[in-house]
Amino acid sequence: MKAIVMTRAGGPEVLEGVDAPEPTPGAGHVLVEIAAAGVNFMDTGVRRGLAWAPQPNPKILGVEGAGRVIEVGEGVSRLRPGDRVAWVYAPGSYAERLAIPEDALVRVPDGIDDRTAAAVMMQGLTASHFATDFYPVQSGDVALVHAAAGGVGLLLTQIIKLRGGHVIGRVSSADKAAIAREAGADHVIVDTEGNFAEEALRLTGGEGVHVVYDGSGPTTFKGSLDALRRSGTFCWYGPVLGGPGALDIMSLPRSIKIGYATFFDHIHTPELLRARSERLFEWIAAGVLKVRIGATYPLADAARAHRDMESRATTGKLLLLP
Ligand SMILES: NC(=O)c1ccc[n+]([C@@H]2O[C@H](COP(=O)([O-])OP(=O)(O)OC[C@H]3O[C@@H](n4cnc5c(N)ncnc54)[C@H](OP(=O)(O)O)[C@@H]3O)[C@@H](O)[C@H]2O)c1
Repeated sequence: MKAIVMTRAGGPEVLEGVDAPEPTPGAGHVLVEIAAAGVNFMDTGVRRGLAWAPQPNPKILGVEGAGRVIEVGEGVSRLRPGDRVAWVYAPGSYAERLAIPEDALVRVPDGIDDRTAAAVMMQGLTASHFATDFYPVQSGDVALVHAAAGGVGLLLTQIIKLRGGHVIGRVSSADKAAIAREAGADHVIVDTEGNFAEEALRLTGGEGVHVVYDGSGPTTFKGSLDALRRSGTFCWYGPVLGGPGALDIMSLPRSIKIGYATFFDHIHTPELLRARSERLFEWIAAGVLKVRIGATYPLADAARAHRDMESRATTGKLLLLP
């Protein structure tokens, strides 16, 4: 079968299309024909050697997707051939087929197409975890959302609005600002230099925001701190773009709360994975959560998808279609 491997750590040029051995489902595993695989920012980090480094190269990239069950291994009880499924974390998803543990799969309802299902798993579960667990947004709260036209950003904006919050988005271009507004952002700040805090303070009458969601690297960290009100919450979540370095706890202002959010910590059982995915699918079916697929690529063009994502020009979700 066709798959995309990284041959070594590096730029998009280290991604290579290969003929990989056909996977077979072992006990408790399900063989899936992949209809769409998600491209995530974390994949660019894996490719650069920031994660999965102990696993030898060449290795197949990708963790997310949707498709159809074609065979089940011994002991699989919940799924059978023909079922439509999606997953958020199954390493090796940039491929035509993959054997995945049954517990890592959720059923996709009839009304949700494969591309939408693949597009909403990682970024949707992440966004819903941020807005409902890490900082449960309350009606009237003001949230600052960075990269508001990106994959996580667009879904986070909509989920905050669903919970009655107000959104100040921060994006890097006027085109992205229009897309963030379409998703429901009440105000959008265009900024790449870390100067957004002043505008966020102005928009909140000098008080600052209740919560900032920042996965945008070191350039935004100081501004995000400055934009928070007293006892505000800083949800930091972007390891690939880099962190602020060592933090002196006594340097943190205004009794703010700060943490590194990873969705695994709140979605850590198969039951939670199913419940949270079902809630996303329900929102989509009800028309209150829109999933923007910014671009699709043939599987063989994975390197182009990575280049586009890292060029900062993309919006919404990028998908590979095997
Ligand atoms: N902790 C978790 O559980 C978790 C889970 C999923 C994703 N993430 C993180 O969430 C962030 C968004 O991920 P995503 O998959 O949804 O990607 P994405 O938002 O589609 O793309 C990344 C966004 O980051 C912004 N950005 C800022 N500096 C950049 C730079 N130097 N190069 C490229 N982009 C830059 C860009 O928005 P602007 O141009 O508007 O600034 C870009 O749209 C990433 O940092 C990712 O690692 C974390």
